[in-house]
Amino acid sequence: NEGSLWGGRFASGPSPELQDLSRSTHFDWQLALYDIAGSHAHAKALAAAGYLTGEQEAEIHRGLDVLAQRFTDGELVPEPTDEDVHGALERLLLEEVGPDVGGRLRAGRSRNDQIATLFRAFLLDHSLVVSRLVADLVDALATQAEQHLHAIMPGRTHLQHAQPVLLAHHLLAHAWPLVRDLDRLDDWRRRVSADSPYGSGALAGSSLGLDPELVASELGFTGSTANSIDGTAARDFVAELAFVLAQVGVDVSRLAEEVTVWSTREFDFVTLHDSWSTGSSIMPQKKNPDIAELARGKAGRLIGNLSGLLATLKALPLAYNRDLQEDKEPVFDSVQTLEVLLPAFTGMVATLTFNTARMAELAPQGFSLATDVAEWLVREGVPFRDAHELAGACVRRCEELGCDLPDLTDEQLASISPHLTPEVRSVLTVEGSVASRSGRGGTAPVRVREQLDELRTATSGH
Ligand code: ARG
Repeated sequence: NEGSLWGGRFASGPSPELQDLSRSTHFDWQLALYDIAGSHAHAKALAAAGYLTGEQEAEIHRGLDVLAQRFTDGELVPEPTDEDVHGALERLLLEEVGPDVGGRLRAGRSRNDQIATLFRAFLLDHSLVVSRLVADLVDALATQAEQHLHAIMPGRTHLQHAQPVLLAHHLLAHAWPLVRDLDRLDDWRRRVSADSPYGSGALAGSSLGLDPELVASELGFTGSTANSIDGTAARDFVAELAFVLAQVGVDVSRLAEEVTVWSTREFDFVTLHDSWSTGSSIMPQKKNPDIAELARGKAGRLIGNLSGLLATLKALPLAYNRDLQEDKEPVFDSVQTLEVLLPAFTGMVATLTFNTARMAELAPQGFSLATDVAEWLVREGVPFRDAHELAGACVRRCEELGCDLPDLTDEQLASISPHLTPEVRSVLTVEGSVASRSGRGGTAPVRVREQLDELRTATSGH
Protein backbone atom coordinates (compact mmCIF):
# COMPACT_ATOMS: atom_id res chain seq x y z
CA ASN A 1 0.00 0.00 0.00
CA GLU A 2 2.91 2.24 -0.91
CA GLY A 3 2.15 5.99 -1.12
CA SER A 4 -1.10 5.83 0.80
CA LEU A 5 -1.78 7.78 4.01
CA TRP A 6 -2.40 4.51 5.81
CA GLY A 7 -1.40 0.92 5.23
CA GLY A 8 0.02 -0.56 8.41
CA ARG A 9 -3.08 -2.46 9.35
CA PHE A 10 -4.29 -3.15 5.78
CA ALA A 11 -3.32 -6.26 3.87
CA SER A 12 -4.52 -4.81 0.56
CA GLY A 13 -5.04 -1.42 -1.02
CA PRO A 14 -8.42 0.20 -1.75
CA SER A 15 -10.50 -1.23 -4.60
CA PRO A 16 -10.85 0.94 -7.71
CA GLU A 17 -14.57 1.30 -6.98
CA LEU A 18 -13.82 2.66 -3.51
CA GLN A 19 -11.24 5.03 -4.98
CA ASP A 20 -13.75 6.37 -7.49
CA LEU A 21 -16.29 7.01 -4.77
CA SER A 22 -13.84 8.40 -2.29
CA ARG A 23 -11.85 10.75 -4.50
CA SER A 24 -12.36 14.48 -3.97
CA THR A 25 -9.42 15.98 -5.85
CA HIS A 26 -11.68 17.18 -8.68
CA PHE A 27 -13.10 19.80 -6.32
CA ASP A 28 -10.68 20.14 -3.40
CA TRP A 29 -7.62 20.69 -5.59
CA GLN A 30 -8.44 24.38 -5.54
CA LEU A 31 -7.56 24.30 -1.83
CA ALA A 32 -3.96 23.28 -2.61
CA LEU A 33 -2.34 26.64 -1.84
CA TYR A 34 -4.30 26.82 1.41
CA ASP A 35 -3.13 23.32 2.35
CA ILE A 36 0.45 24.34 1.59
CA ALA A 37 0.07 27.46 3.77
CA GLY A 38 -1.26 25.21 6.53
CA SER A 39 1.76 22.95 6.15
CA HIS A 40 4.19 25.90 6.41
CA ALA A 41 2.47 26.98 9.64
CA HIS A 42 2.38 23.43 11.00
CA ALA A 43 6.09 22.97 10.26
CA LYS A 44 6.79 26.06 12.36
CA ALA A 45 4.70 24.67 15.21
CA LEU A 46 6.54 21.33 14.99
CA ALA A 47 9.91 23.10 14.99
CA ALA A 48 8.90 25.32 17.90
CA ALA A 49 7.98 22.19 19.87
CA GLY A 50 11.29 20.53 19.02
CA TYR A 51 10.13 17.92 16.48
CA LEU A 52 12.02 19.39 13.54
CA THR A 53 15.58 20.66 13.45
CA GLY A 54 16.15 24.05 11.86
CA GLU A 55 17.53 22.26 8.83
CA GLN A 56 14.58 19.90 8.50
CA GLU A 57 12.14 22.75 8.88
CA ALA A 58 13.93 24.79 6.21
CA GLU A 59 13.88 21.78 3.87
CA ILE A 60 10.12 21.36 4.38
CA HIS A 61 9.51 25.05 3.68
CA ARG A 62 11.63 24.77 0.55
CA GLY A 63 9.74 21.71 -0.65
CA LEU A 64 6.40 23.38 0.00
CA ASP A 65 7.54 26.47 -1.91
CA VAL A 66 8.44 24.28 -4.89
CA LEU A 67 4.99 22.67 -4.77
CA ALA A 68 3.28 26.07 -4.53
CA GLN A 69 5.25 27.33 -7.53
CA ARG A 70 4.43 24.23 -9.55
CA PHE A 71 0.77 24.58 -8.61
CA THR A 72 0.73 28.23 -9.67
CA ASP A 73 2.38 27.28 -12.95
CA GLY A 74 -0.37 24.74 -13.52
CA GLU A 75 2.13 21.85 -13.43
CA LEU A 76 0.90 20.18 -10.28
CA VAL A 77 -1.85 17.66 -10.92
CA PRO A 78 -3.27 14.96 -8.67
CA GLU A 79 -2.94 11.28 -9.59
CA PRO A 80 -6.08 9.18 -9.96
CA THR A 81 -4.89 7.24 -6.92
CA ASP A 82 -4.75 10.38 -4.75
CA GLU A 83 -7.81 10.43 -2.51
CA ASP A 84 -7.81 14.12 -1.70
CA VAL A 85 -5.73 17.28 -1.88
CA HIS A 86 -4.10 16.58 1.49
CA GLY A 87 -2.92 13.10 0.53
CA ALA A 88 -1.75 14.25 -2.89
CA LEU A 89 0.31 17.10 -1.45
CA GLU A 90 1.90 14.83 1.13
CA ARG A 91 2.88 12.41 -1.64
CA LEU A 92 4.30 15.26 -3.71
CA LEU A 93 6.20 16.68 -0.75
CA LEU A 94 7.72 13.27 -0.01
CA GLU A 95 8.83 13.10 -3.64
CA GLU A 96 10.40 16.54 -3.31
CA VAL A 97 12.17 16.34 0.07
CA GLY A 98 12.33 12.60 0.70
CA PRO A 99 10.50 10.50 3.29
CA ASP A 100 12.95 11.09 6.17
CA VAL A 101 12.12 14.80 6.35
CA GLY A 102 8.74 14.88 4.63
CA GLY A 103 7.41 12.02 6.73
CA ARG A 104 7.70 14.16 9.87
CA LEU A 105 5.17 16.76 8.81
CA ARG A 106 2.04 14.73 9.47
CA ALA A 107 2.81 14.48 13.21
CA GLY A 108 0.13 16.12 15.33
CA ARG A 109 -2.30 16.92 12.57
CA SER A 110 -5.11 15.14 10.78
CA ARG A 111 -6.90 15.75 7.55
CA ASN A 112 -9.86 16.50 9.79
CA ASP A 113 -8.34 19.62 11.31
CA GLN A 114 -6.56 20.46 8.07
CA ILE A 115 -9.71 20.55 5.98
CA ALA A 116 -11.69 22.40 8.67
CA THR A 117 -9.02 25.13 8.63
CA LEU A 118 -8.32 25.36 4.91
CA PHE A 119 -11.98 25.40 4.06
CA ARG A 120 -12.43 28.39 6.36
CA ALA A 121 -9.41 30.17 4.88
CA PHE A 122 -10.62 29.58 1.32
CA LEU A 123 -14.14 30.79 2.10
CA LEU A 124 -12.82 33.83 3.97
CA ASP A 125 -10.94 34.91 0.85
CA HIS A 126 -13.84 34.26 -1.50
CA SER A 127 -16.31 35.98 0.80
CA LEU A 128 -14.22 39.13 0.35
CA VAL A 129 -14.54 38.81 -3.42
CA VAL A 130 -18.31 38.38 -3.11
CA SER A 131 -18.50 41.37 -0.75
CA ARG A 132 -16.73 43.57 -3.28
CA LEU A 133 -19.07 42.41 -6.05
CA VAL A 134 -22.15 43.05 -3.90
CA ALA A 135 -20.77 46.52 -3.06
CA ASP A 136 -20.35 47.16 -6.81
CA LEU A 137 -24.02 46.34 -7.36
CA VAL A 138 -25.05 48.63 -4.50
CA ASP A 139 -22.94 51.33 -6.10
CA ALA A 140 -24.61 50.82 -9.51
CA LEU A 141 -28.04 51.11 -7.88
CA ALA A 142 -27.00 54.23 -5.97
CA THR A 143 -25.62 55.83 -9.14
CA GLN A 144 -28.85 55.12 -11.03
CA ALA A 145 -30.82 56.55 -8.09
CA GLU A 146 -28.65 59.66 -8.09
CA GLN A 147 -29.37 60.19 -11.77
CA HIS A 148 -33.14 59.91 -11.24
CA LEU A 149 -33.67 61.90 -8.08
CA HIS A 150 -36.83 63.53 -9.36
CA ALA A 151 -38.37 60.82 -11.54
CA ILE A 152 -41.72 59.61 -10.20
CA MET A 153 -43.10 56.13 -10.72
CA PRO A 154 -46.15 54.16 -9.60
CA GLY A 155 -45.36 52.52 -6.28
CA ARG A 156 -47.12 49.18 -5.96
CA THR A 157 -48.45 46.84 -3.32
CA HIS A 158 -50.04 43.56 -4.41
CA LEU A 159 -48.65 44.63 -7.80
CA GLN A 160 -51.50 47.18 -7.94
CA HIS A 161 -50.92 50.92 -8.11
CA ALA A 162 -50.62 52.09 -4.53
CA GLN A 163 -48.94 55.49 -4.14
CA PRO A 164 -46.50 57.44 -6.30
CA VAL A 165 -42.85 57.12 -5.25
CA LEU A 166 -39.53 58.34 -6.53
CA LEU A 167 -37.76 55.91 -8.84
CA ALA A 168 -34.65 56.61 -6.76
CA HIS A 169 -36.50 55.57 -3.61
CA HIS A 170 -37.53 52.30 -5.24
CA LEU A 171 -34.02 51.57 -6.52
CA LEU A 172 -32.55 52.22 -3.09
CA ALA A 173 -35.12 49.82 -1.62
CA HIS A 174 -33.30 47.15 -3.64
CA ALA A 175 -29.92 48.40 -2.42
CA TRP A 176 -30.56 48.26 1.34
CA PRO A 177 -31.02 44.46 1.55
CA LEU A 178 -27.68 44.12 -0.21
CA VAL A 179 -26.11 46.49 2.34
CA ARG A 180 -27.43 44.18 5.05
CA ASP A 181 -25.91 41.22 3.17
CA LEU A 182 -22.56 43.03 3.26
CA ASP A 183 -23.06 43.40 6.99
CA ARG A 184 -23.86 39.70 7.29
CA LEU A 185 -20.69 38.82 5.40
CA ASP A 186 -18.61 41.07 7.68
CA ASP A 187 -20.18 39.46 10.72
CA TRP A 188 -19.56 35.95 9.35
CA ARG A 189 -15.92 36.82 8.67
CA ARG A 190 -15.44 38.20 12.18
CA ARG A 191 -16.64 34.90 13.67
CA VAL A 192 -14.87 32.55 11.26
CA SER A 193 -11.53 34.33 11.28
CA ALA A 194 -11.32 33.90 15.07
CA ASP A 195 -11.74 30.14 14.85
CA SER A 196 -8.78 28.22 13.41
CA PRO A 197 -9.21 24.47 14.09
CA TYR A 198 -5.61 23.49 13.16
CA GLY A 199 -4.27 21.60 16.17
CA SER A 200 -7.55 19.83 16.86
CA GLY A 201 -6.05 16.71 15.27
CA ALA A 202 -8.56 14.01 14.36
CA LEU A 203 -10.87 15.21 17.15
CA ALA A 204 -9.12 15.15 20.54
CA GLY A 205 -6.21 17.56 20.11
CA SER A 206 -2.53 16.67 20.10
CA SER A 207 -0.24 15.16 22.72
CA LEU A 208 2.82 16.76 21.13
CA GLY A 209 2.60 20.17 22.78
CA LEU A 210 2.00 22.02 19.51
CA ASP A 211 0.64 25.55 19.72
CA PRO A 212 -2.66 26.00 17.81
CA GLU A 213 -2.50 29.76 18.40
CA LEU A 214 0.84 29.93 16.59
CA VAL A 215 -0.64 28.12 13.58
CA ALA A 216 -3.74 30.31 13.71
CA SER A 217 -1.79 33.54 13.61
CA GLU A 218 0.53 32.21 10.89
CA LEU A 219 -2.58 31.58 8.77
CA GLY A 220 -4.05 35.01 9.44
CA PHE A 221 -6.69 33.89 11.92
CA THR A 222 -7.23 35.96 15.06
CA GLY A 223 -7.67 32.91 17.27
CA SER A 224 -7.94 29.13 17.46
CA THR A 225 -10.86 26.83 18.21
CA ALA A 226 -11.75 26.37 21.89
CA ASN A 227 -12.96 22.78 21.46
CA SER A 228 -11.13 20.30 19.23
CA ILE A 229 -14.23 18.14 18.66
CA ASP A 230 -16.19 21.20 17.59
CA GLY A 231 -13.22 22.34 15.51
CA THR A 232 -13.30 19.21 13.36
CA ALA A 233 -17.05 18.51 13.37
CA ALA A 234 -18.70 21.92 13.01
CA ARG A 235 -19.85 23.07 9.60
CA ASP A 236 -22.31 25.74 10.64
CA PHE A 237 -19.83 28.22 9.15
CA VAL A 238 -20.42 26.61 5.76
CA ALA A 239 -24.20 26.60 6.06
CA GLU A 240 -24.18 30.17 7.33
CA LEU A 241 -22.17 31.41 4.38
CA ALA A 242 -24.37 29.39 2.02
CA PHE A 243 -27.34 31.14 3.59
CA VAL A 244 -25.92 34.62 3.10
CA LEU A 245 -25.00 33.77 -0.49
CA ALA A 246 -28.52 32.42 -1.07
CA GLN A 247 -29.94 35.59 0.46
CA VAL A 248 -27.84 37.68 -1.92
CA GLY A 249 -29.25 35.58 -4.75
CA VAL A 250 -32.79 36.06 -3.49
CA ASP A 251 -32.30 39.82 -3.11
CA VAL A 252 -30.92 40.05 -6.62
CA SER A 253 -33.76 37.88 -7.95
CA ARG A 254 -36.38 40.33 -6.70
CA LEU A 255 -34.78 43.15 -8.68
CA ALA A 256 -34.30 40.73 -11.59
CA GLU A 257 -38.01 39.99 -11.65
CA GLU A 258 -38.83 43.70 -11.72
CA VAL A 259 -36.38 44.42 -14.52
CA THR A 260 -37.91 41.53 -16.47
CA VAL A 261 -41.42 42.90 -16.01
CA TRP A 262 -40.35 46.52 -16.56
CA SER A 263 -38.79 45.63 -19.90
CA THR A 264 -42.06 44.22 -21.30
CA ARG A 265 -44.00 46.18 -23.87
CA GLU A 266 -46.87 46.50 -21.41
CA PHE A 267 -44.74 48.22 -18.78
CA ASP A 268 -42.07 49.79 -20.98
CA PHE A 269 -40.30 51.27 -17.94
CA VAL A 270 -36.76 50.29 -18.94
CA THR A 271 -34.68 49.62 -22.00
CA LEU A 272 -31.82 47.17 -21.65
CA HIS A 273 -28.48 48.02 -23.21
CA ASP A 274 -27.71 45.91 -26.28
CA SER A 275 -24.51 44.59 -24.71
CA TRP A 276 -26.40 43.40 -21.66
CA SER A 277 -29.35 41.69 -23.36
CA THR A 278 -29.78 38.89 -25.87
CA GLY A 279 -31.64 38.21 -29.11
CA SER A 280 -33.60 35.28 -30.46
CA SER A 281 -32.40 32.71 -32.96
CA ILE A 282 -35.71 32.84 -34.82
CA MET A 283 -37.51 36.08 -33.94
CA PRO A 284 -35.47 38.96 -35.34
CA GLN A 285 -37.23 41.64 -33.28
CA LYS A 286 -36.52 40.07 -29.88
CA LYS A 287 -34.50 41.61 -27.09
CA ASN A 288 -34.48 39.44 -24.00
CA PRO A 289 -33.51 40.19 -20.39
CA ASP A 290 -31.45 36.99 -20.04
CA ILE A 291 -29.21 38.33 -17.29
CA ALA A 292 -32.23 39.09 -15.12
CA GLU A 293 -33.79 35.72 -15.90
CA LEU A 294 -30.56 33.87 -15.14
CA ALA A 295 -30.34 35.79 -11.87
CA ARG A 296 -33.84 34.61 -11.01
CA GLY A 297 -32.88 31.04 -11.90
CA LYS A 298 -29.55 31.09 -10.06
CA ALA A 299 -31.36 32.08 -6.87
CA GLY A 300 -33.05 28.67 -6.95
CA ARG A 301 -29.69 26.98 -7.31
CA LEU A 302 -28.22 28.95 -4.38
CA ILE A 303 -31.18 27.95 -2.20
CA GLY A 304 -30.68 24.33 -3.27
CA ASN A 305 -27.04 24.46 -2.20
CA LEU A 306 -28.07 25.71 1.24
CA SER A 307 -30.80 23.08 1.60
CA GLY A 308 -28.41 20.32 0.55
CA LEU A 309 -25.83 21.41 3.11
CA LEU A 310 -28.34 21.54 5.93
CA ALA A 311 -29.59 18.08 4.96
CA THR A 312 -26.02 16.74 5.10
CA LEU A 313 -25.49 18.22 8.56
CA LYS A 314 -28.82 17.26 10.07
CA ALA A 315 -28.43 14.63 12.85
CA LEU A 316 -24.78 13.99 11.95
CA PRO A 317 -23.07 12.62 15.07
CA LEU A 318 -19.86 14.14 16.38
CA ALA A 319 -17.09 14.33 15.43
CA TYR A 320 -15.80 14.01 11.84
CA ASN A 321 -17.80 11.76 9.51
CA ARG A 322 -17.03 11.21 5.89
CA ASP A 323 -20.43 12.69 5.02
CA LEU A 324 -18.67 15.99 5.61
CA GLN A 325 -16.79 15.61 2.35
CA GLU A 326 -20.12 16.57 0.77
CA ASP A 327 -19.88 20.02 2.37
CA LYS A 328 -17.61 21.58 -0.22
CA GLU A 329 -19.19 21.37 -3.66
CA PRO A 330 -22.44 23.16 -2.74
CA VAL A 331 -20.77 26.20 -1.21
CA PHE A 332 -18.02 26.25 -3.83
CA ASP A 333 -20.82 26.35 -6.37
CA SER A 334 -22.59 29.18 -4.53
CA VAL A 335 -19.42 31.26 -4.44
CA GLN A 336 -18.66 30.54 -8.09
CA THR A 337 -22.25 31.26 -9.13
CA LEU A 338 -22.23 34.71 -7.52
CA GLU A 339 -18.73 35.49 -8.77
CA VAL A 340 -20.05 35.04 -12.31
CA LEU A 341 -23.57 36.37 -11.86
CA LEU A 342 -22.89 39.61 -9.99
CA PRO A 343 -20.57 41.30 -12.52
CA ALA A 344 -23.11 40.63 -15.30
CA PHE A 345 -26.03 41.76 -13.19
CA THR A 346 -24.25 44.94 -12.12
CA GLY A 347 -23.41 45.71 -15.74
CA MET A 348 -27.06 45.31 -16.70
CA VAL A 349 -28.22 47.60 -13.86
CA ALA A 350 -25.59 50.25 -14.58
CA THR A 351 -26.62 50.44 -18.25
CA LEU A 352 -30.42 50.41 -17.82
CA THR A 353 -32.22 53.31 -19.48
CA PHE A 354 -35.33 54.31 -17.58
CA ASN A 355 -38.35 55.55 -19.49
CA THR A 356 -39.18 58.21 -16.92
CA ALA A 357 -41.87 59.84 -19.08
CA ARG A 358 -43.79 56.57 -19.20
CA MET A 359 -43.38 56.08 -15.44
CA ALA A 360 -44.56 59.63 -14.72
CA GLU A 361 -47.57 59.14 -16.98
CA LEU A 362 -48.63 56.01 -15.10
CA ALA A 363 -47.82 57.33 -11.62
CA PRO A 364 -51.16 59.09 -10.96
CA GLN A 365 -53.27 56.37 -12.59
CA GLY A 366 -55.21 53.79 -10.64
CA PHE A 367 -56.32 56.51 -8.16
CA SER A 368 -52.90 56.42 -6.54
CA LEU A 369 -53.58 59.85 -4.96
CA ALA A 370 -56.56 58.65 -2.91
CA THR A 371 -54.44 58.36 0.23
CA ASP A 372 -53.32 61.95 -0.32
CA VAL A 373 -56.97 63.06 -0.30
CA ALA A 374 -57.59 61.14 2.93
CA GLU A 375 -54.48 62.54 4.64
CA TRP A 376 -55.34 66.09 3.45
CA LEU A 377 -58.74 65.68 5.13
CA VAL A 378 -57.00 64.54 8.33
CA ARG A 379 -54.91 67.70 8.24
CA GLU A 380 -58.23 69.58 7.93
CA GLY A 381 -59.38 67.97 11.16
CA VAL A 382 -61.46 65.07 9.80
CA PRO A 383 -61.06 61.73 11.67
CA PHE A 384 -59.14 59.27 9.51
CA ARG A 385 -61.96 56.68 9.40
CA ASP A 386 -64.25 59.32 7.86
CA ALA A 387 -61.49 60.69 5.64
CA HIS A 388 -60.81 57.19 4.29
CA GLU A 389 -64.55 56.76 3.53
CA LEU A 390 -64.74 60.13 1.76
CA ALA A 391 -61.64 59.54 -0.36
CA GLY A 392 -63.08 56.11 -1.23
CA ALA A 393 -66.33 57.80 -2.26
CA CYS A 394 -64.33 60.10 -4.57
CA VAL A 395 -62.77 57.03 -6.20
CA ARG A 396 -66.21 55.43 -6.64
CA ARG A 397 -67.56 58.64 -8.20
CA CYS A 398 -64.58 58.72 -10.60
CA GLU A 399 -65.22 55.11 -11.59
CA GLU A 400 -68.85 55.95 -12.32
CA LEU A 401 -67.83 58.99 -14.37
CA GLY A 402 -64.87 57.28 -16.01
CA CYS A 403 -62.47 60.01 -14.92
CA ASP A 404 -59.51 60.50 -12.58
CA LEU A 405 -59.42 62.21 -9.16
CA PRO A 406 -58.15 65.62 -10.42
CA ASP A 407 -60.97 65.63 -13.02
CA LEU A 408 -63.74 65.90 -10.36
CA THR A 409 -65.30 69.38 -10.41
CA ASP A 410 -65.58 71.55 -7.30
CA GLU A 411 -69.32 70.79 -7.25
CA GLN A 412 -68.80 67.06 -7.52
CA LEU A 413 -66.27 67.20 -4.66
CA ALA A 414 -68.58 69.34 -2.52
CA SER A 415 -71.48 66.97 -3.14
CA ILE A 416 -69.44 64.13 -1.64
CA SER A 417 -68.59 66.22 1.45
CA PRO A 418 -68.44 69.91 2.39
CA HIS A 419 -64.95 69.14 3.75
CA LEU A 420 -63.77 68.57 0.18
CA THR A 421 -63.09 72.21 -0.70
CA PRO A 422 -61.15 73.15 -3.89
CA GLU A 423 -57.99 73.42 -1.75
CA VAL A 424 -57.76 69.61 -1.88
CA ARG A 425 -56.40 70.05 -5.40
CA SER A 426 -53.06 71.03 -3.88
CA VAL A 427 -52.41 67.36 -3.13
CA LEU A 428 -53.81 66.00 -6.38
CA THR A 429 -50.46 65.99 -8.18
CA VAL A 430 -47.86 63.26 -7.97
CA GLU A 431 -45.16 65.86 -7.24
CA GLY A 432 -47.17 67.22 -4.32
CA SER A 433 -47.88 63.70 -3.07
CA VAL A 434 -44.25 62.63 -3.15
CA ALA A 435 -42.98 65.87 -1.60
CA SER A 436 -45.46 65.57 1.26
CA ARG A 437 -44.01 62.23 2.44
CA SER A 438 -41.14 63.98 4.10
CA GLY A 439 -40.60 62.06 7.34
CA ARG A 440 -37.42 60.02 7.76
CA GLY A 441 -37.48 57.11 5.32
CA GLY A 442 -40.18 58.75 3.19
CA THR A 443 -40.13 59.23 -0.55
CA ALA A 444 -39.83 63.05 -0.57
CA PRO A 445 -36.87 64.16 -2.73
CA VAL A 446 -35.06 65.79 0.23
CA ARG A 447 -35.31 62.56 2.20
CA VAL A 448 -34.20 60.36 -0.67
CA ARG A 449 -31.17 62.61 -1.16
CA GLU A 450 -30.27 62.10 2.52
CA GLN A 451 -30.95 58.38 2.20
CA LEU A 452 -28.51 58.15 -0.68
CA ASP A 453 -25.78 59.75 1.44
CA GLU A 454 -26.62 57.36 4.29
CA LEU A 455 -26.33 54.39 1.93
CA ARG A 456 -23.01 55.58 0.53
CA THR A 457 -21.66 55.96 4.06
CA ALA A 458 -22.89 52.49 5.00
CA THR A 459 -20.99 50.89 2.09
CA SER A 460 -17.89 53.10 2.14
CA GLY A 461 -15.76 50.41 3.82
CA HIS A 462 -16.27 47.90 1.01
N1 ARG B 1 -11.38 14.78 1.96
C1 ARG B 1 -11.89 14.80 3.30
C2 ARG B 1 -12.99 15.86 3.43
O1 ARG B 1 -13.06 16.69 2.59
C3 ARG B 1 -10.76 15.12 4.21
C4 ARG B 1 -11.07 15.00 5.63
C5 ARG B 1 -10.58 13.76 6.36
N2 ARG B 1 -10.89 12.49 5.78
C6 ARG B 1 -10.98 11.38 6.54
N3 ARG B 1 -11.19 10.25 5.97
N4 ARG B 1 -10.85 11.45 7.83
O2 ARG B 1 -13.80 15.83 4.31
